[in-house]
Amino acid sequence: MVRVKLDRVSKYFGRVRAVDNVSLEVMDGEFVTLLGPSGCGKTTMLLMIAGIYKPTKGRIYFDDEDVTDIPPKDRNVGMVFQSYALYPHMTVYENIAFPLRIKKLPKSEIDRKVREAAKLLKIDHLLDRKPGQLSGGQQQRVALARALVKEPDVLLLDEPLSNLDALLRVYMRAELKRLQKELKITTIYVTHDQVEAMSMSDRIVVMNEGKVQQIGTPDEVYRNPSNIFVASFIGTPPMNLIRCTYDESRNVLKCPNFEYELPSAWREALSSRTSDELVLGVRPEDIEIGVESPNAKARVLVVEPLGKDVVVTLALDEETSIKAVARAGTQLPTGEVTGLRIPLEKVHVFDGKSGRALI
Ligand SMILES: Nc1ncnc2c1ncn2[C@@H]1O[C@H](COP(=O)(O)OP(=O)(O)OP(=O)(O)O)[C@@H](O)[C@H]1O
Ligand SMILES: [Mg+2]
Repeated sequence: MVRVKLDRVSKYFGRVRAVDNVSLEVMDGEFVTLLGPSGCGKTTMLLMIAGIYKPTKGRIYFDDEDVTDIPPKDRNVGMVFQSYALYPHMTVYENIAFPLRIKKLPKSEIDRKVREAAKLLKIDHLLDRKPGQLSGGQQQRVALARALVKEPDVLLLDEPLSNLDALLRVYMRAELKRLQKELKITTIYVTHDQVEAMSMSDRIVVMNEGKVQQIGTPDEVYRNPSNIFVASFIGTPPMNLIRCTYDESRNVLKCPNFEYELPSAWREALSSRTSDELVLGVRPEDIEIGVESPNAKARVLVVEPLGKDVVVTLALDEETSIKAVARAGTQLPTGEVTGLRIPLEKVHVFDGKSGRALI
């Protein structure tokens, strides 16, 4: 168990800034997820922590030791690649034993550790098979066993569940989380799936274009997104982002087809805006539909049942549509105009130019 610290780390590939000035501290035994869209630098970060890539700038520490110039084999990290990367000609047993053989452990100890790890991951009945004779989920668990058997200080997992079916993925998510807490291994997990990140992590690092957008607990990044990127990346359906113009004299947001009155206490926070173009953010689950005293009206376009809820698409005007979530069974005839309440205590206000959260 170690603390992993990145101090202003960058990685450039020619002109591409794959990772751009990232600082991050992962605590002993913490489960931290790097979350962001394809190409935002997640794998590059993991490979630098593993020692496979050397940062262009910045330093990496394990506890207080500077490991930036230490080769991967001397870092005691366990890594699971997205592709599993099992040795196809070796049995499951040999695959798991491989890192221990390199360490030249005694045979009896290797045997004990391999069986222990296999049991933990419920693949102990598969030890004689070759990877080609396993399902994707089983191969995944072999790769995990091989990473765990080393008893690494740091576990690095790169989209390890991406190739599994939905049911197996949900099962493995819970299993991985349980295992990580049981073994207390400092874990850095990479995914572009926000649901996975929300359900497993102690903290999430939201990234875009090589830069950290926000670091926080799942609750913090959901409740208090620090900018429009984070707000739109976390949550399904995503947060509604309504372009508005701020009328400072009346302290109202002029939005498509409605005006949104702001409390006077917000004036000060809004004074740091870069222009009068603001974005009103509200999550679909926070909009109330069909209310008596609405603060906006919209036409019902589409109603999509999702079992316990329905997702309703509403048109504020010709150009602007938003989504709301309502209880299943809510009567909403398509084409009709309905009253909406967008509760003040649930809204976010972002700067229209910089995207920064103001409220
Ligand atoms: N060896 C390389 N040479 C040049 N460019 C690279 C190299 N590796 C990555 N890049 C670029 O760096 C950026 C970050 O890549 P990275 O693989 O870290 O993204 P990622 O967040 O892991 O994406 P994904 O979710 O698709 O796996 C991308 O623009 C990618 O094209
Ligand atoms: Mg990647």
